[in-house]
Amino acid sequence: MKTVPFTFELAGPDFVPSTYDNHIQRRLSAMKGQYLDQAAYAAMLAEGDPLLYEVYELQRPTVAGELLHGISIVHPGLVGDEYNMTKGHFHEVLETGEIYYCLKGRGFMVMETPEGETAVEPLFPGRVLYVLPRWAHRSVNASLDEDLVTFFVYPGNAGHDYGTIEKQGFRKLVVAQDGEPAIVDNPRWGQP
Ligand code: PA5
Ligand code: NI
Repeated sequence: MKTVPFTFELAGPDFVPSTYDNHIQRRLSAMKGQYLDQAAYAAMLAEGDPLLYEVYELQRPTVAGELLHGISIVHPGLVGDEYNMTKGHFHEVLETGEIYYCLKGRGFMVMETPEGETAVEPLFPGRVLYVLPRWAHRSVNASLDEDLVTFFVYPGNAGHDYGTIEKQGFRKLVVAQDGEPAIVDNPRWGQP
């Protein structure tokens, strides 16, 4: 791990950092229970286990004061009528926020608080999103032919709480309706 200030490049077309420590790959099998259309999910999984998204991280100590950062790449595709998306999470330390900067593609950040407030913000190249502390967040790629690439930064001590979302899902879904993305209520919210 670096002990002096450092730089690196994020260059198109793929925006993979010129240096990184971890490369995480999440496949369909990691998304059990997350997509509304469970029959479509099972049928796809029976055919293989496609790569849905990747994260390139620069490692830093997981302590307050450090900033964890990297790149998230959500590949295009649908599971049933739902666009490819990340698992999504609350931060374990709920009172920590996150900044996203969209480098490529078209998509949405789906967000909600434990109290039930929701927000869905469009992402496109050049757009910065500030995810307030307390808001769970999930990136959704709303294009069917292009990656959604974002740069993220969050506090070193934030941690990830995946379990809450795995149990209850997000209150809002982004689905393809007549070829266009639409934001709809999740009829299965709270029922894993
Ligand atoms: O910390 C973040 O919010 C991002 O780095 C995400 O971890 C990344 O986009 C992948 O999503 P998830 O961690 O929900 O699988
Ligand atoms: Ni986060």
